[in-house]
Order: sequence, then structure tokens, then C-alpha cells
Amino acid sequence: MDFVHLVLRYLHLLGFAAVFGGWLVSWLSGRFNFNTAMLYGIAVQLATGIVLYGIVAAAGDANHAKLGVKFLLALLLAVMIAIPVWKKRDKVAAGHFWATGGLIAVTAGVAVFWQ
Ligand code: HEM
Repeated sequence: MDFVHLVLRYLHLLGFAAVFGGWLVSWLSGRFNFNTAMLYGIAVQLATGIVLYGIVAAAGDANHAKLGVKFLLALLLAVMIAIPVWKKRDKVAAGHFWATGGLIAVTAGVAVFWQ
């Protein structure tokens, strides 16, 4: 695996930390709002994920169904996170809040368990 691939994978994991960490802080602090850590995190996931997809596809290793599902989940998450952040909502609806955390966890689960 070449160095660029490793750097992108590393950034992909940092993006995951930002989006899920931002959500956890919001939950555990009782604020139930969405923050810029989550917004930058999901943007990093999409950007690094798409380039990683290109790299693994070029090597002939891509699971297209899995990566297509991940891409759709990440796009949905981007919309769910960006709108409340851009509108500076103090709080998101409970269903929206838990669905976002659940979808982040499901997307990471798809990455790890769907081999
Ligand atoms: C919330 C969004 C996302 C989360 C939480 C996430 C999570 C992860 C995690 C935890 C891994 C490491 C899996 C492992 O090494 O076993 C991974 C790898 C990967 N992800 Fe994502 N991901 C997200 C979005 C995306 C998107 C949008 C794409 C592009 C379609 C993508 C493409 C990839 C690829 C290609 C790998 C494998 C990298 C490699 O083999 O070096 N991810 N993802």
C-alpha cells in the first residue's frame, strides 16, 4: 500500500473521529445541537472516501455495492448535519438527533463488517 493511500486512510479515520466525536459531545453535554466538528468531519469523510474509492477501484479491490451504500449514507448525513449547522439551530429535533448518531454508527459498521 503506498504512502498516499495510507495518508488518506488516516485522514478518513480522523474525519470519522470528528463527526462521531462532535455528535457524542453534543449528546453528553446535553446540548443536542450540531456543531462544526461534525460538519467538517462529514466533509472530510466524503472527500477522502471518494478518493479512497478511486484508489481501491484502480487496484481492482473495490466492493462497489458496499461503497455505493456508504456513499449514499454519507450524502444523507451531510444534508442532515449541514442544514442545522448553517441555520445555526440551537437544538435539533430528538428524532433527527438520534437518527444522525445511529446513521454514523451504521456507516462505520458497513465499513468494518461488510467485507
Ligand atoms: C460517515 C461516513 C463514513 C464513515 C463513518 C466511514 C468509516 C470508515 C472506516 C471506519 C473505515 C476503515 C475500515 C477498515 O479499515 O476496516 C473506512 C474505510 C473506507 N471508506 Fe469510509 N466512511 C465513511 C464515508 C465514506 C465514503 C463516502 C466513501 C466513498 C464512497 C468511503 C470509502 C471508504 C473506502 C474506499 C475505505 C477503505 C480504505 C482502504 O482500504 O484503505 N467512506 N471508512
